[in-house]
Amino acid sequence: MKNNFVIGLINVIFYCAFFTNNSNAQRITTIQLEGTQYFISKMNPYAPALNYYLAYQYCRSIGLQLVSFETMEKTKAMSNYLKNAGYTTTDYWTAGNKLGTNMLIWMSTGLPFNSTFNMMRNQKQERSFSARLGGRSVESAPGANCVALTKPLMEWDVFDCMATKDFICEQTRCYYYNYGAIPVTASQG
Ligand SMILES: *[C@@H]1O[C@H](CO)[C@@H](O)[C@H](O)[C@H]1NC(C)=O
Repeated sequence: MKNNFVIGLINVIFYCAFFTNNSNAQRITTIQLEGTQYFISKMNPYAPALNYYLAYQYCRSIGLQLVSFETMEKTKAMSNYLKNAGYTTTDYWTAGNKLGTNMLIWMSTGLPFNSTFNMMRNQKQERSFSARLGGRSVESAPGANCVALTKPLMEWDVFDCMATKDFICEQTRCYYYNYGAIPVTASQG
């Protein structure tokens, strides 16, 4: 009984992520790493490098979101995987950006960056990042608003969102939330 439920749950998540969309299904390869499903564009010969906005759209088109890194553990798991699998010759867009605000947030979840660790690449950005943590604004090159993992060490940096890069999508919760929605019909006033 319990097993059936688990299998059912896995199926729901799977459908939720992969069959709501993408009717002219191209075969895509995803990996499962520490319980989360990821799509890494570099692993997929048909996925082109894209600017930030198109990468966001691409992830949505396969039922996923650009990746976010809320914890150190998740960050390390992904960067270690990319290093060990030899995928560190390129940059990858993440869901991180500071579009419309001076604060770095994960667009996929709406959460600010975790202040207990800092993966930003260079000293200047580290200072800026600290400044943000003190409630002030992030200083970076004008127009550099979108966060990518950078080759070869997979540290984070901000770039012009129109730059073309590989990207990583992830399966996010689309099953667990229960908003207590009110059932209605179109003819109801
Ligand atoms: C922030 O990162 C730490 C270390 O990985 C983690 O334990 C904590 O849960 C994270 N906080 C949030 C809000 O995700």
